[in-house]
Amino acid sequence: MSEAGDATVMAFPGMDSKELAVEKRKDTGGYDPSGIDLEAWTELEEQLVATIPNYDRVNKWMTFGQDKNWRKSVAKHALEGMNVLEVGCGPGSFAETISGVDLTCLDPSAEMLRVAKKRVDAVRSANGDSDAIYVQAIAEDIPLESDTYDRVFCLFSFRDFRDKRKGLEEIHRVLKSGGKLVICDAGKANAFHGFFGKVWMATGVQLMARLITKDKDHPWKGLARSYTHYGTNKFYKNLMEEVGFEVKQAKLILPFAMASRFIAVKK
Ligand SMILES: C[S@@+](CC[C@H](N)C(=O)[O-])C[C@H]1O[C@@H](n2cnc3c(N)ncnc32)[C@H](O)[C@@H]1O
Repeated sequence: MSEAGDATVMAFPGMDSKELAVEKRKDTGGYDPSGIDLEAWTELEEQLVATIPNYDRVNKWMTFGQDKNWRKSVAKHALEGMNVLEVGCGPGSFAETISGVDLTCLDPSAEMLRVAKKRVDAVRSANGDSDAIYVQAIAEDIPLESDTYDRVFCLFSFRDFRDKRKGLEEIHRVLKSGGKLVICDAGKANAFHGFFGKVWMATGVQLMARLITKDKDHPWKGLARSYTHYGTNKFYKNLMEEVGFEVKQAKLILPFAMASRFIAVKK
């Protein structure tokens, strides 16, 4: 396990396995609904890290303030005293909202973890909670014990997994039997619905990011690609079932149907 430090993200053990074959993704710049090839993912990670100073503000504007409600609705699944893991914690925007639980925050980016630690532990300390544990790793290779967590949450990080199946398998492994995975990410009911999302990502989001960052080369330019090649709810529901989850919910979140929520239980 690596702790949050100065290391930059390049490669992790297990990443060059057969499951991560890249050949078929050449035409899409390295993306398909099942994952992202290493070169494209490394570039995506750099763009995600570059969003940090403006991450919360752009999210707020691009979701018309709904991201806060989406986070709240996921946080409700964390009950007092539970052992909780957030996979892809980013700068801590969700992690700082849950209290009364033992919390582990995992992310591949040392910089994301550094920012999250500062932010999340300050809130936890004010709430009387112990510091969270910070783990630098990828979802596809979680350096944590099996059957350990009551809840695993992924807020806007599942879309960035290099290998969705492997990530789900690892999450399934670290969950206790009966434990719950809750994912909140972009919403895509079908290709038609996805088209509107793509247009929004390519226009409104770009405009807002440009206005907020005051930079025409802002990182949201590249981030739209992870939405374009993201799969439908049905695709990921099937994948979760194949991995061994019982999927309780896989639905678009109203009022704008911009995001989806999955609730899946380890059988
Ligand atoms: C958009 S941020 C989400 C931040 C936060 N969870 C939130 O509530 O807004 C996505 C995060 O997923 C992380 N990530 C990317 N690939 C990942 C992977 N394969 N496994 C785990 N996390 C990953 C990125 O480093 C980034 O910090």
